[in-house]
Amino acid sequence: MKINILTLFPDMFQGAFSESIIKRSIEKGIVQIDITNIRDFADNKHNSVDDYPFGGEAGMVMMAGPIVRAIEHLQKQDQWDEIIFLTPDGKTLDQPMVNNLSLNKNMILLCGHYKGIDQRVRDHWITQEISIGDYVLSGGELAAMVIVDAVVRLIPGVLNDETSALSDSFQNQLLSSPVYTRPADFRGHKVPDILLSGHQKKIDEWKYEQALKRTQERKPDLLK
Ligand code: 6GU
Repeated sequence: MKINILTLFPDMFQGAFSESIIKRSIEKGIVQIDITNIRDFADNKHNSVDDYPFGGEAGMVMMAGPIVRAIEHLQKQDQWDEIIFLTPDGKTLDQPMVNNLSLNKNMILLCGHYKGIDQRVRDHWITQEISIGDYVLSGGELAAMVIVDAVVRLIPGVLNDETSALSDSFQNQLLSSPVYTRPADFRGHKVPDILLSGHQKKIDEWKYEQALKRTQERKPDLLK
């Protein structure tokens, strides 16, 4: 999968993609992540990319020109499955949306800043608008990182044990059951006996019951 992120703050992404699962999947060639600086597509001598809103209101708006020229530059190189705008008024990301995104061959993620971007970009160039929750971030960059992480780990070959993505919380509409590792007795707190019993069928039943109980207690909406 090829992901291109359009942003005014390319440096924000340095740490996020240079560790752990994302780093390994880039090294393995399973995913290619490129960062495009929208400012490189400014067309005035001050390299400005924002301007005052028509109609008067506080804050600045990202101009259509630099964003659209950046998109068109990428469209000359590739045909893109999705051009996604990260915005708090987009559709709230959930696991089924992540699963769908992971089937794309490629996608552009556009990060907004300030008061937002010129509506005409959203109307005519964007194919999907996504939010990562009901709160406001300073920009779309952290949301883009969240999407990349959630999507990349689902691509076959990224996780060592492919079944481990299927047993994640939210897959099968259930939260995961609790997990334990050694020691079996930590400061008097014991691991449930069943997990040490060696009866795989009983263990699987227990895990399912625990997953169901957790889901009922914490995310009953998932069971509807
Ligand atoms: Cl995608 N962007 C911003 N700026 N804030 C958000 C968000 C996105 N999702 C939740 N809050």
